[in-house]
Amino acid sequence: MFLTCCPNVYSMMLQTQINFIDNEILLTLDLQPPYKAILKKDFLHIYKDNEPLFSLPLLYPNLISWQFERGLVGFKINNNIYQTDQALKLKELLNGRLFFSKIQDFYTPLQVLGQGSSAKVLLVKSKHSDQYFAAKCVEKNELMYQEIEINNQLDHQAFVKIKEVFQGDTSYYIIMDLLSGKNLQQLIKNQHVGLTLEQTQKIMHALLSGIEHMHLKSIMHRDIKPENIVLQKNNNLTTLKIVDFGLATYTTLKKFKYPKCGTPGYVAPEIANLTDKDATYSSKCDIFSAGAVFFKLLTGRDVFPGTGFNFVLSLNKKCQIDFSVLTLKKIPQNVIRELVQKMLSKDPKMRPTATECLNHEFFTFNDKPTSAQKKTFFAQTRATTLTVDFSSPEEKPEYKGSFVTNDIVPQKCEMQKTINKFNTTEFEQYN
Ligand SMILES: Nc1ncnc2c1ncn2[C@@H]1O[C@H](COP(=O)(O)OP(=O)(O)O)[C@@H](O)[C@H]1O
Ligand SMILES: [Mg+2]
Repeated sequence: MFLTCCPNVYSMMLQTQINFIDNEILLTLDLQPPYKAILKKDFLHIYKDNEPLFSLPLLYPNLISWQFERGLVGFKINNNIYQTDQALKLKELLNGRLFFSKIQDFYTPLQVLGQGSSAKVLLVKSKHSDQYFAAKCVEKNELMYQEIEINNQLDHQAFVKIKEVFQGDTSYYIIMDLLSGKNLQQLIKNQHVGLTLEQTQKIMHALLSGIEHMHLKSIMHRDIKPENIVLQKNNNLTTLKIVDFGLATYTTLKKFKYPKCGTPGYVAPEIANLTDKDATYSSKCDIFSAGAVFFKLLTGRDVFPGTGFNFVLSLNKKCQIDFSVLTLKKIPQNVIRELVQKMLSKDPKMRPTATECLNHEFFTFNDKPTSAQKKTFFAQTRATTLTVDFSSPEEKPEYKGSFVTNDIVPQKCEMQKTINKFNTTEFEQYN
């Protein structure tokens, strides 16, 4: 196995001010004489005759290409190949720090797990172990770095870990933990009366815990909706994961990239009604979206019912919500209604924080479903195995997709469009 630094990265490395600041050595690699490599926290340093030769900063968009050849690994620079028997160890330590290339040397694509508005997610199997992962295939665009960077900062059970990121000719491939359950949209699709109180409590608690963690790190998701909430296993509602950080951003920025984005039906009204692209808003936008998810779990209905992107968006902008449907449920209505209503306040200041939501009395109610209710529910969600629910993704109406509006964002910045073809160079086996 050989590791090749592509020419542009090499020239970039030479341009990079060589930084040999002494910090903790993570790995020392004996390459063939007279070369040696030392991996530190932020750089891979290469030495020749014990003299610093160059440093490769461990950050995107820097790229390392791994190539397999006679079971060896090394760097290939200017036709020189530097070999090491610690290739896999080195790769392990570099995972998620910079781009790799040649995904086809590492993974076999098996099938489509899901499709969103900007990407396809594939089930892939490692070629070097029996492990399965999910690979999110995204068309190349600059927002990618932020999606990875933000995801990497989250350390909580409600988020998947990114393992590696590969770069192909036209796509990036984010290799991440595999979730074998349904997304909430698929889960509640046939639940016309909503879920039970206990199921709703579990889902909302797990969702709000993840949102609380994000917000404490000054990160907002901006596209919380049922399709972006995926169960790790179908029979466990508490192990849900919030996915898709394609529109996530830091709340502390003075100006947001793509300020007007989200999904009609879930987007907070202050974003849907935004007219000044320099205006900012707070992480309370995620509370509104979580409120819309909450409403749907309880009632089986959309907060802003209707069809068509513009129609749903217009209701969303006005934000006149019919809470009377909540009274159909045999549940502690006043308590639930209070929380849902607060979360769906048009005025973000009136919305509770995620922590306040979690401390709400709604989560203390104990209304366990009967075993018959549970049986029916889990029969609908199907048993869980490794290959559970790897059926084709559902056809989704156009308006369900996330948007980045072009009314205040220049057209060229638009990135949320459906990708219909794959970069077959990387995944030639995928049809
Ligand atoms: N780690 C994963 N394991 C299994 N399925 C996933 C995983 N991540 C996402 N999905 C599925 O793929 C769909 C699309 O992924 P997402 O990241 O939301 O893409 P997009 O940015 O295009 O919306 C999700 O709705 C979900 O059903
Ligand atoms: Mg999505």
